[in-house]
Amino acid sequence: MPLIIEAIVTTTRADQSPHISPLGMIAEGDGWVLAPFRPSATLENLARTGRAIANFGADARVYAGCLTGRRDWPLATLDDGQFRLADCASHAQLQVIAVDDHAERPRFTCKVVRHVTHRPFAGHNRAYSAVIELAILTSRLHMLSPAKIQAEVAYLAISVAKTAGPAEQEAWDWLIARLQAAGIAV
Ligand SMILES: Cc1cc2nc3c(=O)[nH]c(=O)nc-3n(C[C@H](O)[C@H](O)[C@H](O)COP(=O)(O)O)c2cc1C
Repeated sequence: MPLIIEAIVTTTRADQSPHISPLGMIAEGDGWVLAPFRPSATLENLARTGRAIANFGADARVYAGCLTGRRDWPLATLDDGQFRLADCASHAQLQVIAVDDHAERPRFTCKVVRHVTHRPFAGHNRAYSAVIELAILTSRLHMLSPAKIQAEVAYLAISVAKTAGPAEQEAWDWLIARLQAAGIAV
């Protein structure tokens, strides 16, 4: 299996407004493959513009926020008109160099045009990872049984209780509320 890094991907809509979404980026050589499922705004934007920004080290609330209707995060505009998260450890400017079209999940192979660091890497945090895991589960509610989600939440909640800072706790709470709103008893 290839290495996959989770990032917040910023793309540009047809009306030049930003769209942000968490995406798993598949390592390939010194570039990345982005594989958004159909239908999605990220896919449309990638296909139309051939470019995207990968934001690394985002606040955990951005991951949880994108899954809970909170997509309005502070952005900075780059020289070329694209957007990055104002608060991220680094951002990479991606250029699509090949498209492998597919009925469900096309693959966009990207090269890194530029990678800019904004602040030092802050270190690993278990609660941050738990938020990412729960965000992924929340994005797949239609495919998973309530029992599977309940079991995962019970396990992930341990590291949240032990290691979360205020941002990770808030992100976790948003996702739990989303699951409860979907009728899952967590
Ligand atoms: C950490 C994380 C990784 C994800 N990776 C992918 C991915 O590789 N492909 C995908 O289609 N959706 C992925 N998702 C789900 C998308 O973020 C979600 O479906 C999103 O709504 C995409 O649609 P959009 O571009 O219209 O926002 C991921 C979600 C999370 C939380």
